[in-house]
Order: sequence, then structure tokens, then C-alpha cells
Amino acid sequence: MIRQDRPHLALVGGMGAGKTVVGALVAERCRRRHVDLDRWIQADTGRSIGVVFAESGEDGFRDAEQSSLGRALDLAEPVVLSTGGGVLRRPANREALAARARVVWLRATPETAAARVGDGTGRPLLEGGSPVEVLRRLNAERSPLYEAAADLVLDTDDDTPDQVADEVVAWLERHEAPAGSSAAPS
Ligand code: S3P
Repeated sequence: MIRQDRPHLALVGGMGAGKTVVGALVAERCRRRHVDLDRWIQADTGRSIGVVFAESGEDGFRDAEQSSLGRALDLAEPVVLSTGGGVLRRPANREALAARARVVWLRATPETAAARVGDGTGRPLLEGGSPVEVLRRLNAERSPLYEAAADLVLDTDDDTPDQVADEVVAWLERHEAPAGSSAAPS
């Protein structure tokens, strides 16, 4: 049974947490559509994330992000949504996600995330500096936002994307089990 009020599943977390790859795996397993918010932003603006930042600044990017998020959450079918690491910065996005989606925080240490993102190419906030230092700063700033938004927190440092996806799917199945079934939500 899919919850009518919060039909979507949203993955949040910092850059390099695995939101895109895990989201694709979860969507495949749940036979849901996968929406990668950064890809939607690129399609909606007709520009790469780097060009949006360069031409419109971070505020312009956040405007585009908010608008694409709103469209994704308006989809009638329940989707798996991979968000960008800064999506919770705007209160409106926090409210929209809380109202329309179950939220899973894929948590990774800055060191793990840095190893995954390499030199940060394609991620404007990581370019021109030391990725691990930026990731540490963003992690400190944003962890309280992820924590407050999350219905489930999963540490991903020692797990493969397949293992993380398994955990997300198992949790989702518990929470969407029909009322009266023995699979009580934890
Ligand atoms: C951002 C994360 C990126 C992308 C943009 C800004 C952030 O997404 O939305 O570069 O503010 O952390 P990923 O988390 O998928 O890398």
C-alpha cells in the first residue's frame, strides 16, 4: 500500500553519498520511476549544473532546483527521487519533501565522499578547492538538516550501492506493508 499523503521516496545526503546510483537501484527493484533531480534541473534549464552556477550563481541554481523539485513531487505516480546535496537548504524544499515524501538520509563521512567524487569535476561547489575540506564544511553545516528531515538514516561508508539499496527497499516494504500484516514498522 502506498501512502497517499507521502507517496514518494526521496534520498538526501551530501555529494558522494551515493544518492543517484542507489536511487536507480531502488527504483528498479520497486518498479518505480527514478527521478534524478540534477538531471531534471539540466533538462529544465537546458544547461549543465556547472553552467547554471557560472551564469546564474548558486541562487539561480537553487531557484531551478526548487522549481524542478516541485514538479517532481507533483508527479501522480510514486517515484524514487535522488536529490542534490543542497536541496534542504531552502525551507520551502524541506516543507515540500516532508509533506510529500518519505526521506532517507544516505550518510557518508567526508573522507568516504571525497574518495567517491574524486577531483569534483561537474560539482561546482567542489571545484577550485580541496574537495575533502569543502565536504567537511558542508557536512557540518548540513547534517542537522538531513537529520531533521530523515525518516531513516543509513551509513553507507562500508556498504556497496547494492547493499544500501537492499536496506532501503526492506525498510520501504516494512513501511508500506498492508495494515494488519505482521510486518510492523520499526
Ligand atoms: C550540490 C550537490 C550536487 C548538485 C549541485 C549542488 C550541493 O548534487 O545539486 O552541484 O549543494 O551539495 P549531488 O549531491 O548529487 O552531487
